[in-house]
Amino acid sequence: MLFRRLGRTNLDVSELSYGAARGAAQDARGFIEVIHACIDAGINLIDTAGGYDDGESERVLGEALVGHDDVIVETKYCPYDSYLPDANYIGTPKALIASAEESLRRLRRDRLDIFLGHGIRSLETLDRFMNDGCYDAMVKLREAGKGRFLGISELSEGDGTHEILKKAVPSGAFDVVMLTINFLLQTAVDSVLPLCKKHHVGTVVMMPLNQASKQSGLVSVEAALTCVRRHIEHGTLPDEPPYNQPTLFDFLKPYSIPEAALRYVLTTDVSTCCAGTRSTERLAENLRILDPPYLDEERLEHLRSLFGRITRQVR
Ligand SMILES: NC(=O)c1ccc[n+]([C@@H]2O[C@H](COP(=O)([O-])OP(=O)(O)OC[C@H]3O[C@@H](n4cnc5c(N)ncnc54)[C@H](OP(=O)(O)O)[C@@H]3O)[C@@H](O)[C@H]2O)c1
Repeated sequence: MLFRRLGRTNLDVSELSYGAARGAAQDARGFIEVIHACIDAGINLIDTAGGYDDGESERVLGEALVGHDDVIVETKYCPYDSYLPDANYIGTPKALIASAEESLRRLRRDRLDIFLGHGIRSLETLDRFMNDGCYDAMVKLREAGKGRFLGISELSEGDGTHEILKKAVPSGAFDVVMLTINFLLQTAVDSVLPLCKKHHVGTVVMMPLNQASKQSGLVSVEAALTCVRRHIEHGTLPDEPPYNQPTLFDFLKPYSIPEAALRYVLTTDVSTCCAGTRSTERLAENLRILDPPYLDEERLEHLRSLFGRITRQVR
């Protein structure tokens, strides 16, 4: 396992980190097995959130991490009434503190390593979060020794402008951000990453497989072609070769689509690429990417020229 410095924190994080968003409620034993396989492989950063599986992700993670205090856990407080893009902002300092206390209890820890505002989705609600006492409450947690590093994540449904992070990163308020980068949404590479470097902010990449699900996402050639077809339908890619041809991704061989997608992320200047899987087999596949330079310049340039102009995610 190779490690990268997480911005201004003094933490060195594994290049591949683990997203624990799924699986805890569905199959706790399988979830714990995957967490232990991550630790055995050298993964030292795990992302979760108070809202994942109604707290079960944190609770079962806490169980799995008994005796593994050295694993860095990133968790989040969501100041909205749902994860939908049009959710209402309901953040309050009191709710933030209560959420952090619940996270500490479920995770069986005295201190949250990295604590994020979850899915901040508009400049207006970023402003509210910063000025209604929520951010101050985060700072108080840190001062009380209950939180080590602070940050925010952007909305999953990346729009490619990253306006929230462009405002939040230079403010100096945050040590870490979680952001979307994948080869179908490359926009943050030239916009957010240089800002993070300048301000020494650590970067945890979410959705490296493009909000993967069985129907879409960068999980197989068929699913990736479905993503591309959706872009064509939305007018964000042209309805012409090579985009409308089944051979579009042949140039990535011998890599599978998920392998190439994860490799793409690690070619960029990020701290860590956070990928979720509920399977130890797929975790083992994902661990195969850890060999610099990850992708050769020819394939990388091809990915940039094919998809570098996409400025929003489609689902
Ligand atoms: N706003 C936010 O803060 C935010 C938003 C989104 C995500 N996140 C975090 O970022 C993490 C990563 O995001 P994500 O969308 O990639 O994670 P995710 O929600 O865990 O989804 C990953 C998907 O990719 C599949 N997958 C993984 N490796 C694969 C492989 N080698 N071959 C085929 N399929 C594979 C998984 O399926 P199986 O489980 O069946 O293997 C799963 O469906 C999340 O887990 C979460 O912790 C944060």
